[in-house]
Amino acid sequence: MKKQYEGREVSMKVAFIGGGNMGEAILAAILAKGLSSKEAISVSDVSQTRRQYLGQKYGVTVVGDNRQAVSKGDIVVLAIKPQQLAEVMAELNSQLKPSQLALSIIAGARISTLRHGLSHNHIVRVMPNTPAQIGEGMSAWTATKEVTKQQKTWAGSILGAMGREIYVDDEKYIDMATAVSGSGPAYVFLFAEALVDAAIHIGLSHDIAQELVLQTILGSTQFMQQSGKLPSELRRMVTSPGGTTAEALAQLEKGQFTELIKQAVIAAYNKAKELGN
Ligand SMILES: NC(=O)c1ccc[n+]([C@@H]2O[C@H](COP(=O)([O-])OP(=O)(O)OC[C@H]3O[C@@H](n4cnc5c(N)ncnc54)[C@H](OP(=O)(O)O)[C@@H]3O)[C@@H](O)[C@H]2O)c1
Repeated sequence: MKKQYEGREVSMKVAFIGGGNMGEAILAAILAKGLSSKEAISVSDVSQTRRQYLGQKYGVTVVGDNRQAVSKGDIVVLAIKPQQLAEVMAELNSQLKPSQLALSIIAGARISTLRHGLSHNHIVRVMPNTPAQIGEGMSAWTATKEVTKQQKTWAGSILGAMGREIYVDDEKYIDMATAVSGSGPAYVFLFAEALVDAAIHIGLSHDIAQELVLQTILGSTQFMQQSGKLPSELRRMVTSPGGTTAEALAQLEKGQFTELIKQAVIAAYNKAKELGN
C-alpha cells in the first residue's frame, strides 16, 4: 500500500517485536494515518491475551514467534522492555537483512548494543513519550550511518504519525531527550497533581479542581505554541507587580522551583547514561 505522507510516498511492511502499550500506540498511529495496511503489519508478543486483543482490535497478523514476525517486515520495531532485550537479541541475531530497518524504542538500549546483539547495522534508536498513545507524542531519534534515505523516511513517517519527531545526529542527544521529553510527561503529571491538591486544600471540590487544572495546562501549552512567544515572556505578561501571580511565583522561587527542575533533569540524564552502560 502506498500513501503520500507530507509529500513523500510511503509504503512499508512493519513487524513488531512486543505489542505492549508503546507497540500498540505505534501500530494504531500507522493504521490511523494510512502509512500501512493491516495486512502489512505483523505483531509478535509472548502474551496470548495481548495477541488476541491486537488481532481482534486492529485485524493485524499476530504471531508468537519473533523470527517469523521479523521475516515479514521492512521495519522491525523493537518494543519490548529493556530486561527482555538480551533474550530477544539472541533469538534475532543475524536474522535481519540490510534492506530491513531495526527501529528500537527501548529505553537505555544503545546503538552499539543493538548493532552487536542483532549483528545488524541498519538501526534507528528512538526516545518516544507516553502522549504518543493519543497522537501527541514527542520522539527524538537518531540513525546509524548505514540507514538509507528511504529507511529514514519510513522512520520519520512512523514517528510523525504519533505526534512530533525530531532527528538528532548524535546518540548522546537521545539520553538528553530521555531526561526532558521521555520522562517529561511525569513532571507535568506531578505538577498537575500538586496543583489539584493545592486547589482542594483552599476549598475547591475535586471535580472543579481537576477541570481548572487540566484546562489551564492545556490552554497554557497551546498558548505557548500558538503565540510564538517565549514561555518567559508569557510568564511576565501574566505577572502584574504586587498581584496574585507575583505572590505565587515568589513562593515557588523561595522553594527553588527552577533550580529543582534543573536538578531533576540532571538526575534523569545521569540515570539515562548509567542505564545505557
Ligand atoms: N511507555 C513509555 O512511555 C515509553 C517511553 C519511551 C520508551 N519506552 C520503551 O518502550 C518499550 C516498551 O514499553 P511498553 O510500555 O510498551 O512495555 P510493555 O507494555 O510491557 O510491552 C512489552 C510487550 O512485549 C511482550 N514481550 C515480553 N517478552 C517478549 C519477547 N521475548 N518477545 C516478544 N514479546 C515480548 C510483553 O509481554 P508480557 O507483558 O507478557 O511480558 C508486552 O506485551 C520499553 O523498552 C520502554 O523502555 C516506553
